[in-house]
Amino acid sequence: MLQDNFGRRFHYLRLSITEVCNFRCTYCLPEGYQCDGDRDFLSLEEITHLVQAFAALGTSKIRLTGGEPSLRKDLSQIIERCAATDGIRQVALTTNGFKLPQMIDSWIDAGLTRLNVSLDSLDPRQFQAITGHDKLSTVLSGIDKALSRRISVKVNSVLLKPYSEGMLNQALSWLKDNPVTLRLIELMQTGDNQAFFNANHLSGQPIKNRLLAEGWIPVVRDRTAGPAQEFSHPGYAGRIGLIMPYSRNFCTSCNRLRVSAKGNLHLCLFADKGLPLKHLLSQGQGDALQARLRSLLADKQASHWLDKGYTGATQQLAMLGG
Ligand code: GTP
Ligand code: 5AD
Ligand code: SF4
Repeated sequence: MLQDNFGRRFHYLRLSITEVCNFRCTYCLPEGYQCDGDRDFLSLEEITHLVQAFAALGTSKIRLTGGEPSLRKDLSQIIERCAATDGIRQVALTTNGFKLPQMIDSWIDAGLTRLNVSLDSLDPRQFQAITGHDKLSTVLSGIDKALSRRISVKVNSVLLKPYSEGMLNQALSWLKDNPVTLRLIELMQTGDNQAFFNANHLSGQPIKNRLLAEGWIPVVRDRTAGPAQEFSHPGYAGRIGLIMPYSRNFCTSCNRLRVSAKGNLHLCLFADKGLPLKHLLSQGQGDALQARLRSLLADKQASHWLDKGYTGATQQLAMLGG
């Protein structure tokens, strides 16, 4: 098992398979970001070798992210290869959802076990203002279809000013009947979004206070829990979660590593230095790749230090992706 100097174990790999996205979310793509420049992304074979090496080191969950991963024509094959790898028990996908209605059946048939969908507003006009696309009904019908296949669905909404009482009410009424986990994510500061961050960042704390006051119960976190603090309520089919990366101790439960679409290992979402792996991703280099992963892990830091004003990260836009 991959373990760092602070006793944290890494059973979860977030693998970006493209940096390209068809949406233009306001918080993700600041002016001047060119998302369709270099397309030198890992091939299906390289991804297969990478996943095999991680699995041999104890990784049991792979999350495919982007950019927008469904823009890759070989996504179903990538899912299939991950699911067929010894030791991999969960294959998850984070998507903006625009291809869900047409593709979810093939992804599930290929071995997908978990789905996270970015959905920043349940209001069609707001959705379009944030993403640049009039696709709310497509994404919602895709979520319905995924739920009808009984796959676990989480929905991510970035908290942006002004997030009103009305928007939270709308989200809560949607959760009454929909068995999804809706996670409200505090906007994170990335290298290029300082001005946007200052204008739009909102703390999740008032929402947490309201949930507690209205009878929502914190779900006990286990060792493999994600970054969200989740709440459940007997009157609701769904759960609500808060991702508050600026709160104290966010990093003590870190259980994931990341690899970028170009094959660089990132020890933290906020680590700007990508550590190249691509030269070890061809056939027959599995042992060398595993040895490199083990030795690189020794450099993982205890925390991202964001709460202490560290803002050195430059790579997160591609790493956060939909
Ligand atoms: P599961 O817990 O497996 O459902 O996945 P997840 O929440 O890690 O995945 P998802 O891609 O849906 O990410 C949700 C949000 O959590 C995004 O805004 C991520 O950027 C954020 N996030 C995920 N991992 C980390 C992390 O290690 N550090 C920080 N600061 N944020 C993270
Ligand atoms: N801050 C917080 N969340 C972000 N995401 C993308 N950029 C940011 C940011 N700057 C979210 C997307 C997606 C998830 C993987 O990360 O909305 O749901
Ligand atoms: Fe695309 Fe996701 Fe970024 Fe939105 S947040 S532009 S869906 S990568």
